[in-house]
Amino acid sequence: MTLTEAKTLLQANGQEHVLRFWDTLGPAAQAALLAQIATLDFAAIGRMQALLRDAGKPASQAAPFEPAPVEAPEGDALAAHVAQGQELLRQGKVAALLVAGGQGSRLGYDGPKGAYPIGPITDRPLFWFHARKLLGLKRTYGKPVPFYVMTSEANDAPTRACFEANDYFGLDRQDVFFFTQGMWPALDPQGKIILDQPGHIFMSPDGHGGVLAALDRSGALADMAARGIEHVFFFQVDNPMVDIADPLFVGLHAAKGADMTLKVCKKREAHEGMGVVVVRDGAYAMVEYSELSDEQMERTNPDGSLWLAYGSPAIHMFSRAFLQAEAARHMPLHLAHKKIAMVDDAGQTHKPAAPNGYKFEKFIFDVIPNAKTLVTLAFDRAEEFSPVKNAEGNDSPATAKRDLQAKWRRWLAQAGVTLPDTLPVEIDPAHALNAAQLKDKGLQIG
Ligand code: UTP
Repeated sequence: MTLTEAKTLLQANGQEHVLRFWDTLGPAAQAALLAQIATLDFAAIGRMQALLRDAGKPASQAAPFEPAPVEAPEGDALAAHVAQGQELLRQGKVAALLVAGGQGSRLGYDGPKGAYPIGPITDRPLFWFHARKLLGLKRTYGKPVPFYVMTSEANDAPTRACFEANDYFGLDRQDVFFFTQGMWPALDPQGKIILDQPGHIFMSPDGHGGVLAALDRSGALADMAARGIEHVFFFQVDNPMVDIADPLFVGLHAAKGADMTLKVCKKREAHEGMGVVVVRDGAYAMVEYSELSDEQMERTNPDGSLWLAYGSPAIHMFSRAFLQAEAARHMPLHLAHKKIAMVDDAGQTHKPAAPNGYKFEKFIFDVIPNAKTLVTLAFDRAEEFSPVKNAEGNDSPATAKRDLQAKWRRWLAQAGVTLPDTLPVEIDPAHALNAAQLKDKGLQIG
């Protein structure tokens, strides 16, 4: 992009202030700024400005909703779904999609969150546990589950380096596909793009919902189609307990012909910060924790159980066809008022004490209302969910390591091995994906 083209584009969109320090920049900084301007999506920025204008208006009363029905198959139905899921894995029709482009600001770790050491004995990273499960699936079913890993501009290189340094954790390189999500500028309250340096536009990842456009743009969707993938297991980087592409989930999703299937688990307590799946105006939707009133969260059924008993940990199955169709749509935007470093008119950068601008993100669960068939499956969180979100307290490395070890101790007990509580435990998922496999294969102490 030339300077003249940049000026024309910015003027047409009321953003000419982006070039106000142009004459003070050296040639490299000028070239970098032009390159940044070339990446701006002004149609999306227009939608951000519209959202900002509407943000001050009183919200329309949201329609009432009911909690979505939850499936918990048992007996013959359960066995049939597991068998179908296993068959799809044997046919190589299942892929895994990891969103790992987040900034992990609550954890405060210097590096991609997936590189965070979580192995209780070995300090192996979160990525290791995910990748070794995929290796375990390949060994069990004879076909790879291709691994699509979304990064962001900020953590793409260190993420790839982590895979390289660990020899892809034993996976075939050709079965791992990295792709990078989009980056968006932030806007000030007047809808102007924020510069954090005289020659630099502040940019941040466009949210986990950015995965749809990024899958399409990167060729990942085409790659899935070429490999004959029909079903895609979606998960987040921070949960080392996740049961990737477990046959029940895959089989139930396929049997129902669902566009999307969500795993849901019992909330720890009424106010736990999880979204809930609901039916509103005849369509499924996710209601975020922040949108729920105390009354809604605390409401109970006649038997004393919570009315909104189940929350979503963002573990989903998608049909590839649904992902493809959704990638062509504009997702709704969400805005967050944040403290954003900004240059003043003298070109000095200031870190504000209070929120001064708006970041915009897309959320994957906004596709829910578009799903023609949607299913929710209850799962046991003690077996499958303990995320690393915070540095300390709930949902921290300490609780994830505790819950991982409690689960492995249960598996060992089922295999007839009882260990003292003080002895740390760690199991390689490539050796055993579940208690039954551990019992079959026995222990190999390594
Ligand atoms: P979180 O919302 O927990 O955010 O992301 P985070 O960025 O990891 O951590 P905080 O909020 O800054 O502390 C849930 C999942 O979505 C991914 C994250 O990597 C994580 O797996 N994510 C989030 C993206 O891939 N891109 C984004 O833009 C945001």
